Amino acid sequence: MTKNPQSASSAGDSSKTRKSIITKMNPNYSNYKLHAKMAAMEKYINIDKLIDGDKNSIKQIRSYYRINNWAYRRYHSQDGFMHFRVSPNGCFTDEDIYYQPDCVSEFIKPNSVVMELGFGQGANLLYLAHCHPEARFIGVDLSPLKKKGKDIPSNVTTYELDYNDLSQFSDNSVDVMYAFETIVHNSHKEKVYSEVHRVLKPGGVIIVFDYALASRLETYDAVVQKAIAVTSKGGASAMIESQEELNDCYVKCGLKVEKCVNHTRATLPDLKRLERKAAKILERPKLARLLFWLLPDQFVSNIVIGYLGYDGGNAGVGAYWEWVLRKP
Ligand SMILES: C[S@@+](CC[C@H](N)C(=O)[O-])C[C@H]1O[C@@H](n2cnc3c(N)ncnc32)[C@H](O)[C@@H]1O
Repeated sequence: MTKNPQSASSAGDSSKTRKSIITKMNPNYSNYKLHAKMAAMEKYINIDKLIDGDKNSIKQIRSYYRINNWAYRRYHSQDGFMHFRVSPNGCFTDEDIYYQPDCVSEFIKPNSVVMELGFGQGANLLYLAHCHPEARFIGVDLSPLKKKGKDIPSNVTTYELDYNDLSQFSDNSVDVMYAFETIVHNSHKEKVYSEVHRVLKPGGVIIVFDYALASRLETYDAVVQKAIAVTSKGGASAMIESQEELNDCYVKCGLKVEKCVNHTRATLPDLKRLERKAAKILERPKLARLLFWLLPDQFVSNIVIGYLGYDGGNAGVGAYWEWVLRKP
């Protein structure tokens, strides 16, 4: 389950070292496919309905996960992980799901206090708590941890709360924080990272894996902007920002960017797998129309995101990043 230590320490684009042996779809073709898929979907799905209005209030984020939890278990990970697999050698393996928690592991010492923001179904929290029985783990999410069928070790405590307000936790009290694919939901990221900065001990770190655009939104054409909007808002997220905007936010909140790695290439095998599943519905217009008439919008948008994700990543629009941010 431990990832290749060489890939862990490499900075820059994680695909570069193996580029010569990995085949890759031409990004221009993905750009064409993104446009073609949007045009086809507009004929039988009301994309504007999935985009319009405020979609990432706390109530809507909760509802999105309530509706989609089943799909995450069924199509993403039976073990309850909800993040993408990072496959540094370009081949999908189920074990690539451990890439992110294994990155966090490297920062945990005996007696560390560790906090996960947005623990989802609790898979990272329980995995790391079993691996590090002498550290103490705190998990925060909008929904409580579902305990049925889980072996919850005594070094884990979970809280049902919005991490925009961590006032229950003292200043300078946590050694290691981590957040996988969760802060993207929040419109007020400076608020979140100011709380992170307050709660971290001096010298403490937060490890973040999340999506960011390769360039600012306004640099893309209208169709791509719409694909970004349906991916963001359909997934109960804020409009996805660029890596540059996020880096500015971290620095403003007093955090030092110690590592910033683009893992997009390594997520493509997982994105391709999900695209194939979504295509089984979306490339059959009659079936798609029927299902979309029957199913809630937040379920539909999850399928649309799965359909667009691979081409968005391969075309160089959306990107998947790892940050290590330190409180000086
Ligand atoms: C994509 S899931 C990721 C779960 C987990 N990090 C993983 O990798 O398996 C995002 C989670 O973040 C939580 N979340 C989003 N915004 C939140 C907030 N403001 N406060 C607490 N949890 C939040 C959601 O409830 C959801 O469980």
